[in-house]
Amino acid sequence: MANIKKNRLKDEVAFRRFLPLVSITLLGVFLLMFLLRINSNFATPFSDDFSQVLTNRSHARQMLSLPKQTEFSLQLEKRNQMPPRNLDLYPSLDEDHITIVLYVHNRPQYLKVAVDSLSRVVGINETLLIVSHDGYFEEMNKIVEGIRFCQVKQIFAPYSPHVFPNSFPGVSPTDCKEKDDATKKHCKGTPDQYGNHRSPKIVSLKHHWWWMMNTVWDGLKETKDHSGHILFIEEDHYIYPNAYRNLQILTELKPQKCPHCYAANLAPCDVNARGEGWDSLIAERMGNVGYTFNRTVWRKIHKKTTEFCFFDDYNWDITMWATVYPSFGNPVFTLRGPRTSAVHFGKCGLHQGQGEAKACIDNGMVNFQVEEIDTVANINSDWEVRVFEHQPGYKAGFKGWGGWGDKRDHQLCLTFAQMYHS
Ligand SMILES: *[C@@H]1O[C@H](CO)[C@@H](O)[C@H](O)[C@H]1NC(C)=O
Ligand SMILES: *[C@@H]1O[C@H](CO)[C@@H](O)[C@H](O)[C@H]1NC(C)=O
Ligand SMILES: *[C@@H]1O[C@H](CO)[C@@H](O)[C@H](O)[C@H]1NC(C)=O
Repeated sequence: MANIKKNRLKDEVAFRRFLPLVSITLLGVFLLMFLLRINSNFATPFSDDFSQVLTNRSHARQMLSLPKQTEFSLQLEKRNQMPPRNLDLYPSLDEDHITIVLYVHNRPQYLKVAVDSLSRVVGINETLLIVSHDGYFEEMNKIVEGIRFCQVKQIFAPYSPHVFPNSFPGVSPTDCKEKDDATKKHCKGTPDQYGNHRSPKIVSLKHHWWWMMNTVWDGLKETKDHSGHILFIEEDHYIYPNAYRNLQILTELKPQKCPHCYAANLAPCDVNARGEGWDSLIAERMGNVGYTFNRTVWRKIHKKTTEFCFFDDYNWDITMWATVYPSFGNPVFTLRGPRTSAVHFGKCGLHQGQGEAKACIDNGMVNFQVEEIDTVANINSDWEVRVFEHQPGYKAGFKGWGGWGDKRDHQLCLTFAQMYHS
């Protein structure tokens, strides 16, 4: 009896001694499994080392869990490889050109106005205009195909929900809707912080922006080695004739005048403001109209992929203000002139003016009184910089408006950041 007890005790002691070793080994195995899973399924930004092992891109693509493409999606991807148009008219780009990226969805009436304004921009013929489309719409294409004032390249987001009629990232029949209970309804999806399931039309905006950023900086033959700045505008922005020349001055002045500025902007961060008209430059909070930055800044943003992709807000700009910029550790300022060089004219918001609803420009036209002073560069390089501190707006701590809770959207977003890093 006693002997058995003693033996058992011995076993127990041995087992206890053994336990930490077993736990550590198991922990190690789990960690390894976890890391491998992250690398193969989630393609987080940490997996750079792992992906370097991969020999080529098509191999890497198989490792990334991008959605299964439709024939149409593949065609769009192929079309993105086509060279820019108008090479016959503009065979070369100016040595220190600022590339312009215009990202659009489906508001042809707006796009006509934006393109018409671009046609009058002084210096536009020195640069490349990239039009990035969320979805494929003939009327939008026609407008872009009509451009003759500069080199122009069209790209189409191949994973846009708009080009997947019955599968993710579009709507799939098994998806949960609105406030469905996934277990009760046996449907697919993770609700956002407010209990709502994904809406493909709404998540497409943030996906497009992130796909476009990654593609333009790191994926396109025409721009992946571009060493200068890139200007980003949207289909509901009216661009003044002096925008390009002003931007050239601002980006050149930035290193001396505002070394802590991350970007240069065409317009004030308050979209209703038109500028102060002072004799000075202004450094202020990063805005979302006509923002322009370089690859150094893009690399910083790309490092915050996790923050961008997991923040539960379907707006790319609010995501940037509430998570990405605050994570840089210091306030993110942008440099601009005292008079705006771009105006945001989209009044219709997200749900109107898209697709089925009629676009809502007053009387079918926007009327901007561009004054004489705004037709030529109007920034003086002798001006001092006035800094606007502590402006109101979204900042760290804001929890997000939701709409971005589905794990599949998080993963697609992470994958976009890995696409060109193998
Ligand atoms: C890239 O990888 C794919 C899949 O592993 C392979 O079929 C292809 O031959 C590779 N291409 C090159 C250029 O190594
Ligand atoms: C660009 O346009 C200007 C007029 O605005 C013209 O003087 C110049 O020659 C054009 N350059 C090219 C490369 O077409
Ligand atoms: C890009 O801009 C940042 C911020 O203005 C600046 O610190 C950096 O030196 C610039 N990088 C290059 C390569 O010009």
